[in-house]
Amino acid sequence: MLRPWISTNLAISADGKITSVEKRASGWTSKADHQRLLDLRRGAGALMVGHGTLKADRMTLTVDGQENPPLRCIVTRDGGVESDHPVFSKAGGPIHILSTRSNTPAPVRGAVMHHGNLESFLRTLRTEQRVERLHCEGGGMLIRELARLDAIDEFHLTLAGHTLFGGRLAKSPTGLPEDWLPASREFELRSFEPHMELGECFLSYIRRRNAQ
Ligand SMILES: NC(=O)c1ccc[n+]([C@@H]2O[C@H](COP(=O)([O-])OP(=O)(O)OC[C@H]3O[C@@H](n4cnc5c(N)ncnc54)[C@H](OP(=O)(O)O)[C@@H]3O)[C@@H](O)[C@H]2O)c1
Repeated sequence: MLRPWISTNLAISADGKITSVEKRASGWTSKADHQRLLDLRRGAGALMVGHGTLKADRMTLTVDGQENPPLRCIVTRDGGVESDHPVFSKAGGPIHILSTRSNTPAPVRGAVMHHGNLESFLRTLRTEQRVERLHCEGGGMLIRELARLDAIDEFHLTLAGHTLFGGRLAKSPTGLPEDWLPASREFELRSFEPHMELGECFLSYIRRRNAQ
Protein backbone atom coordinates (compact mmCIF):
# COMPACT_ATOMS: atom_id res chain seq x y z
CA MET A 1 0.00 0.00 0.00
CA LEU A 2 1.45 3.36 -1.02
CA ARG A 3 1.28 5.53 2.08
CA PRO A 4 3.43 7.62 4.41
CA TRP A 5 5.52 6.06 7.18
CA ILE A 6 3.09 6.00 10.11
CA SER A 7 3.82 6.44 13.79
CA THR A 8 1.32 6.44 16.65
CA ASN A 9 1.47 7.65 20.22
CA LEU A 10 -0.74 6.82 23.20
CA ALA A 11 -0.64 6.69 26.97
CA ILE A 12 -2.19 3.73 28.76
CA SER A 13 -3.24 3.19 32.35
CA ALA A 14 -2.18 0.19 34.44
CA ASP A 15 -5.27 -1.64 33.18
CA GLY A 16 -4.51 -0.88 29.54
CA LYS A 17 -7.06 1.88 28.98
CA ILE A 18 -6.62 5.16 27.15
CA THR A 19 -9.62 6.92 28.59
CA SER A 20 -11.23 7.39 31.98
CA VAL A 21 -14.62 8.04 33.48
CA GLU A 22 -13.74 11.74 33.40
CA LYS A 23 -12.78 11.31 29.72
CA ARG A 24 -9.43 12.82 30.60
CA ALA A 25 -7.24 12.62 27.56
CA SER A 26 -4.50 14.86 28.74
CA GLY A 27 -3.34 15.99 32.13
CA TRP A 28 -3.43 12.52 33.72
CA THR A 29 0.15 11.73 32.74
CA SER A 30 3.30 13.69 33.63
CA LYS A 31 4.56 16.92 32.12
CA ALA A 32 7.45 14.87 30.72
CA ASP A 33 4.94 12.70 28.89
CA HIS A 34 3.24 15.78 27.49
CA GLN A 35 6.61 17.06 26.31
CA ARG A 36 7.25 13.69 24.68
CA LEU A 37 3.90 13.96 22.90
CA LEU A 38 4.98 17.33 21.48
CA ASP A 39 8.46 16.06 20.56
CA LEU A 40 7.00 13.10 18.67
CA ARG A 41 5.09 15.50 16.44
CA ARG A 42 8.30 17.01 15.14
CA GLY A 43 9.35 15.83 11.73
CA ALA A 44 5.88 14.66 10.76
CA GLY A 45 4.46 15.99 7.51
CA ALA A 46 0.97 15.33 8.85
CA LEU A 47 -0.69 14.79 12.21
CA MET A 48 -3.86 12.72 12.36
CA VAL A 49 -6.60 12.06 14.92
CA GLY A 50 -10.06 10.55 15.00
CA HIS A 51 -13.02 12.85 15.47
CA GLY A 52 -13.61 11.41 18.97
CA THR A 53 -10.16 12.47 20.14
CA LEU A 54 -10.39 15.84 18.44
CA LYS A 55 -13.58 16.54 20.39
CA ALA A 56 -12.60 15.00 23.74
CA ASP A 57 -9.19 16.66 23.87
CA ARG A 58 -10.02 19.91 22.08
CA MET A 59 -6.94 19.21 19.98
CA THR A 60 -5.44 21.85 17.74
CA LEU A 61 -2.63 19.66 16.34
CA THR A 62 0.12 22.24 16.18
CA VAL A 63 3.89 22.26 16.44
CA ASP A 64 5.68 25.33 17.76
CA GLY A 65 8.30 27.10 15.68
CA GLN A 66 8.10 24.97 12.57
CA GLU A 67 8.32 26.82 9.28
CA ASN A 68 6.14 24.33 7.42
CA PRO A 69 3.66 23.09 9.99
CA PRO A 70 2.31 19.58 9.46
CA LEU A 71 -1.07 19.00 7.84
CA ARG A 72 -3.81 18.47 10.40
CA CYS A 73 -5.92 15.45 9.44
CA ILE A 74 -9.21 14.48 11.04
CA VAL A 75 -11.01 11.21 10.36
CA THR A 76 -14.78 10.93 10.71
CA ARG A 77 -17.55 8.80 9.25
CA ASP A 78 -20.10 11.48 8.54
CA GLY A 79 -18.02 14.62 8.40
CA GLY A 80 -19.84 16.60 11.06
CA VAL A 81 -16.83 18.40 12.49
CA GLU A 82 -17.97 21.41 14.52
CA SER A 83 -16.95 24.62 12.77
CA ASP A 84 -16.35 26.38 16.12
CA HIS A 85 -13.77 23.80 17.25
CA PRO A 86 -10.46 25.47 18.27
CA VAL A 87 -8.58 23.58 15.55
CA PHE A 88 -10.07 26.06 13.07
CA SER A 89 -9.06 29.17 14.99
CA LYS A 90 -5.52 28.20 16.01
CA ALA A 91 -2.86 28.86 13.39
CA GLY A 92 -1.29 25.66 12.10
CA GLY A 93 -0.98 23.44 9.07
CA PRO A 94 -3.71 23.00 6.46
CA ILE A 95 -6.70 21.01 7.76
CA HIS A 96 -7.83 17.91 5.86
CA ILE A 97 -11.00 16.09 6.86
CA LEU A 98 -11.65 12.53 5.70
CA SER A 99 -15.30 11.51 5.75
CA THR A 100 -15.59 7.79 5.13
CA ARG A 101 -19.36 7.50 4.78
CA SER A 102 -20.75 10.64 3.29
CA ASN A 103 -20.32 10.83 -0.50
CA THR A 104 -20.56 14.56 -0.40
CA PRO A 105 -19.38 15.70 3.02
CA ALA A 106 -20.67 19.16 3.87
CA PRO A 107 -17.84 21.64 3.37
CA VAL A 108 -16.21 22.89 6.54
CA ARG A 109 -14.77 26.37 6.25
CA GLY A 110 -10.99 26.31 6.40
CA ALA A 111 -10.70 22.58 5.63
CA VAL A 112 -10.07 20.43 2.57
CA MET A 113 -12.73 17.70 2.46
CA HIS A 114 -12.01 14.14 1.31
CA HIS A 115 -14.31 11.22 0.79
CA GLY A 116 -13.23 7.58 0.70
CA ASN A 117 -11.72 4.99 2.97
CA LEU A 118 -8.72 5.41 5.21
CA GLU A 119 -6.49 3.46 2.85
CA SER A 120 -7.20 5.74 -0.10
CA PHE A 121 -6.77 8.80 2.09
CA LEU A 122 -3.32 7.60 3.18
CA ARG A 123 -2.43 7.10 -0.48
CA THR A 124 -3.63 10.61 -1.30
CA LEU A 125 -1.55 12.06 1.51
CA ARG A 126 1.52 10.32 0.16
CA THR A 127 1.02 10.96 -3.56
CA GLU A 128 -0.74 14.31 -3.71
CA GLN A 129 0.32 15.99 -0.48
CA ARG A 130 3.83 14.48 -0.51
CA VAL A 131 3.59 13.46 3.13
CA GLU A 132 6.43 11.14 4.02
CA ARG A 133 5.75 10.76 7.73
CA LEU A 134 2.36 10.79 9.37
CA HIS A 135 1.94 10.81 13.14
CA CYS A 136 -1.35 9.63 14.64
CA GLU A 137 -2.40 10.49 18.20
CA GLY A 138 -5.40 8.19 18.40
CA GLY A 139 -7.85 7.43 19.50
CA GLY A 140 -8.40 3.73 19.76
CA MET A 141 -10.89 3.39 16.94
CA LEU A 142 -8.58 5.05 14.43
CA ILE A 143 -5.52 3.14 15.62
CA ARG A 144 -7.45 -0.08 15.37
CA GLU A 145 -8.21 0.64 11.71
CA LEU A 146 -4.55 1.47 11.04
CA ALA A 147 -3.62 -1.83 12.72
CA ARG A 148 -6.22 -3.67 10.63
CA LEU A 149 -4.59 -2.22 7.52
CA ASP A 150 -1.19 -3.14 8.98
CA ALA A 151 -0.20 0.47 8.48
CA ILE A 152 1.56 1.20 11.77
CA ASP A 153 5.33 1.36 11.46
CA GLU A 154 6.24 2.93 14.77
CA PHE A 155 4.31 2.58 18.01
CA HIS A 156 5.02 4.89 20.95
CA LEU A 157 3.51 4.13 24.28
CA THR A 158 3.58 5.67 27.71
CA LEU A 159 2.81 3.10 30.34
CA ALA A 160 1.29 5.15 33.16
CA GLY A 161 1.09 2.41 35.74
CA HIS A 162 0.19 4.88 38.47
CA THR A 163 -3.49 4.94 37.50
CA LEU A 164 -6.34 2.49 37.05
CA PHE A 165 -9.39 3.51 35.02
CA GLY A 166 -11.59 0.42 34.91
CA GLY A 167 -14.71 0.74 32.81
CA ARG A 168 -16.49 -1.84 30.70
CA LEU A 169 -16.63 0.73 27.91
CA ALA A 170 -13.18 2.23 28.45
CA LYS A 171 -11.20 2.22 25.24
CA SER A 172 -7.85 0.51 24.79
CA PRO A 173 -5.18 1.45 22.21
CA THR A 174 -7.24 -0.53 19.70
CA GLY A 175 -10.55 0.90 20.85
CA LEU A 176 -13.41 -1.11 22.27
CA PRO A 177 -13.19 -4.90 22.18
CA GLU A 178 -14.23 -6.00 18.73
CA ASP A 179 -13.28 -8.69 16.29
CA TRP A 180 -9.71 -9.93 16.13
CA LEU A 181 -7.34 -8.11 13.86
CA PRO A 182 -6.76 -10.14 10.69
CA ALA A 183 -3.46 -11.20 12.29
CA SER A 184 -1.41 -10.18 15.29
CA ARG A 185 0.90 -7.26 14.61
CA GLU A 186 4.33 -7.73 16.10
CA PHE A 187 6.67 -4.94 17.07
CA GLU A 188 10.27 -4.79 18.16
CA LEU A 189 11.21 -2.73 21.21
CA ARG A 190 13.54 0.10 20.23
CA SER A 191 13.64 2.16 23.38
CA PHE A 192 12.64 1.70 26.97
CA GLU A 193 12.82 4.66 29.32
CA PRO A 194 11.59 4.00 32.83
CA HIS A 195 10.99 7.08 34.95
CA MET A 196 10.77 5.82 38.52
CA GLU A 197 10.07 9.27 39.90
CA LEU A 198 7.08 9.69 37.58
CA GLY A 199 5.79 6.15 37.84
CA GLU A 200 5.82 6.00 34.04
CA CYS A 201 7.73 4.24 31.33
CA PHE A 202 8.22 5.58 27.80
CA LEU A 203 8.38 2.84 25.18
CA SER A 204 8.98 2.93 21.43
CA TYR A 205 8.49 0.02 19.06
CA ILE A 206 9.06 -0.57 15.36
CA ARG A 207 6.91 -2.95 13.33
CA ARG A 208 8.68 -6.23 12.77
CA ARG A 209 7.89 -7.04 9.16
CA ASN A 210 10.43 -9.71 8.36
CA ALA A 211 8.58 -12.08 10.72
CA GLN A 212 5.84 -12.49 8.10
N1 LIG B 1 -4.48 8.13 26.47
C1 LIG B 1 -4.20 8.60 25.28
O1 LIG B 1 -3.04 8.69 24.89
C2 LIG B 1 -5.31 8.99 24.35
C3 LIG B 1 -5.03 9.32 23.03
C4 LIG B 1 -6.07 9.63 22.18
C5 LIG B 1 -7.37 9.61 22.65
N2 LIG B 1 -7.62 9.31 23.93
C6 LIG B 1 -9.01 9.25 24.44
O2 LIG B 1 -9.68 8.22 23.72
C7 LIG B 1 -11.04 8.59 23.58
C8 LIG B 1 -11.42 8.51 22.12
O3 LIG B 1 -11.24 7.20 21.69
P1 LIG B 1 -11.96 6.65 20.39
O4 LIG B 1 -11.55 5.23 20.19
O5 LIG B 1 -13.39 6.99 20.40
O6 LIG B 1 -11.23 7.60 19.40
P2 LIG B 1 -11.19 8.18 17.96
O7 LIG B 1 -10.74 7.14 17.00
O8 LIG B 1 -10.41 9.41 18.11
O9 LIG B 1 -12.68 8.62 17.69
C9 LIG B 1 -13.68 7.83 17.21
C10 LIG B 1 -14.40 8.66 16.17
O10 LIG B 1 -13.47 9.11 15.19
C11 LIG B 1 -13.93 8.80 13.89
N3 LIG B 1 -13.17 7.65 13.40
C12 LIG B 1 -12.16 6.98 14.03
N4 LIG B 1 -11.67 6.03 13.22
C13 LIG B 1 -12.37 6.09 12.08
C14 LIG B 1 -12.33 5.36 10.87
N5 LIG B 1 -11.46 4.35 10.68
N6 LIG B 1 -13.20 5.69 9.89
C15 LIG B 1 -14.08 6.70 10.06
N7 LIG B 1 -14.18 7.43 11.19
C16 LIG B 1 -13.32 7.13 12.19
C17 LIG B 1 -15.40 8.54 14.07
O11 LIG B 1 -15.98 9.84 14.11
P3 LIG B 1 -17.53 10.17 13.81
O12 LIG B 1 -18.26 9.78 15.06
O13 LIG B 1 -17.53 11.63 13.56
O14 LIG B 1 -17.92 9.36 12.66
C18 LIG B 1 -15.46 7.88 15.44
O15 LIG B 1 -16.71 7.97 16.08
C19 LIG B 1 -11.20 9.98 24.12
O16 LIG B 1 -11.74 9.91 25.42
C20 LIG B 1 -9.79 10.49 24.14
O17 LIG B 1 -9.64 11.43 25.16
C21 LIG B 1 -6.62 9.00 24.79
